Amino acid sequence: MIALLEAKELTKSFGGIRAAKGVTFQVCEGETIGIIGPNGAGKTTLFNLLTNEIKPDSGSVKLAGEYIDQLSIHERVKAGMARTYQVPRPFSEMSVRNNIRVSMMPDDLWKMIRHSGDMHAEQVIAESVGFHSSQLDHMPSELAMGDLRKLELARTLATNPKLLLLDEVFAGLTISEIDQISELLVRRKKSHATTYMIVSHDLKSLAPLVNRVIVIHQGEILTQGTFDEVVSDPQVQDAYLGAEVRR
Ligand SMILES: Nc1ncnc2c1ncn2[C@@H]1O[C@H](COP(=O)(O)OP(=O)(O)OP(=O)(O)O)[C@@H](O)[C@H]1O
Ligand SMILES: [Mg+2]
Repeated sequence: MIALLEAKELTKSFGGIRAAKGVTFQVCEGETIGIIGPNGAGKTTLFNLLTNEIKPDSGSVKLAGEYIDQLSIHERVKAGMARTYQVPRPFSEMSVRNNIRVSMMPDDLWKMIRHSGDMHAEQVIAESVGFHSSQLDHMPSELAMGDLRKLELARTLATNPKLLLLDEVFAGLTISEIDQISELLVRRKKSHATTYMIVSHDLKSLAPLVNRVIVIHQGEILTQGTFDEVVSDPQVQDAYLGAEVRR
């Protein structure tokens, strides 16, 4: 399998805190990778480094074999890398429909305009994440957390990503919403060969989705392996327990 993403020695400190330290890993095309680790381990920082929301102190990132270190956030989205945020960030002054519409790549917008007789693309995307058509004109302030997460996901799908980075995509969702989103991710993986990295504290929901899990602890990769391998690893249990005790 081809490496879609290669991170090499990514390092970032915030003052005295090492949020990423020599993080090196590869993700193959079509894989679903779980990213787990206790609170403050550096999971979101890793996504911020991959998308260029934060510049690394050192290290590099390749997407589909090309170095992307010089690409801006937007250029990385265009290159096929999209992410959701742990705290949803919709455009608060825009409806659900327009939030999705403005996230579409210009090419897709043109396609949408040309095919205006069909159901609008943003409606197809909204319904695929579980929005009812009556919700398309709702404003973000009217949405519960579950729907805000769906909107977050819909906005990334509108960019037609090859690699989707999902930060706590299940947090605040009901079991049926989690099932709905999980089914969507699996369906999309089959239809678009989408590759996922999913940060989640909800290990039960993560388990059936992932091919491999990377465990982050204190900014470093503690271990990686299959879901069963990592959750039964005493080092991983200690890392979680240590974090629980400290809190
Ligand atoms: N912009 C920032 N400025 C200063 N410190 C930061 C910044 N971003 C993250 N940190 C610190 O870096 C460490 C890693 O944070 P990060 O948000 O990546 O953890 P996380 O694994 O996503 O945690 P959680 O599970 O709680 O979301 C933490 O100690 C955090 O306080
Ligand atoms: Mg986080």
